[in-house]
Amino acid sequence: MTLYERLGGAEGIASIANDSVDQHLKNPVVSTRYKYSDIAKVKSMAFEFMAMGTGGPQTYTGRNMLDTHRGMNISEQEFMEVVDDILVALDMNHIDQKEKDEVLAILYSLRKEIVRV
Ligand code: HEM
Repeated sequence: MTLYERLGGAEGIASIANDSVDQHLKNPVVSTRYKYSDIAKVKSMAFEFMAMGTGGPQTYTGRNMLDTHRGMNISEQEFMEVVDDILVALDMNHIDQKEKDEVLAILYSLRKEIVRV
């Protein structure tokens, strides 16, 4: 069973993506980063990215991680906060520890394309 299926497929991942972005908007360390963003667009891109990256049939139509975050000068602390927000979103959606560990490993692997790029 793919990680995509274990996260609840399209429906489950849409909920996780929406909750993750909502957590970022409530997180004082990173919320101002999204001040000028189209939040519906960020949510829909987060959904596609997570769905495709966990083995779903969706195609991610957004920019790659390097191009998206280049020039933002994102700190290690901000990266940790965003990862923590996503772990909270996984808890909100009753995702088990094994799946949380797998998502965490994927997120961590993206660090060098996002932090201080
Ligand atoms: C592993 C961690 C992260 C992942 C997987 C991720 C993923 C994404 C994705 C898929 C998008 C949409 C790209 C597009 O619209 O083409 C995005 C946009 C964005 N990300 Fe990240 N991101 C991460 C970490 C961060 C961090 C740490 C920050 C800063 C606190 C950040 C700030 C932003 C902002 C401000 C946008 C919106 C840009 C816009 O409005 O066009 N991201 N991210």
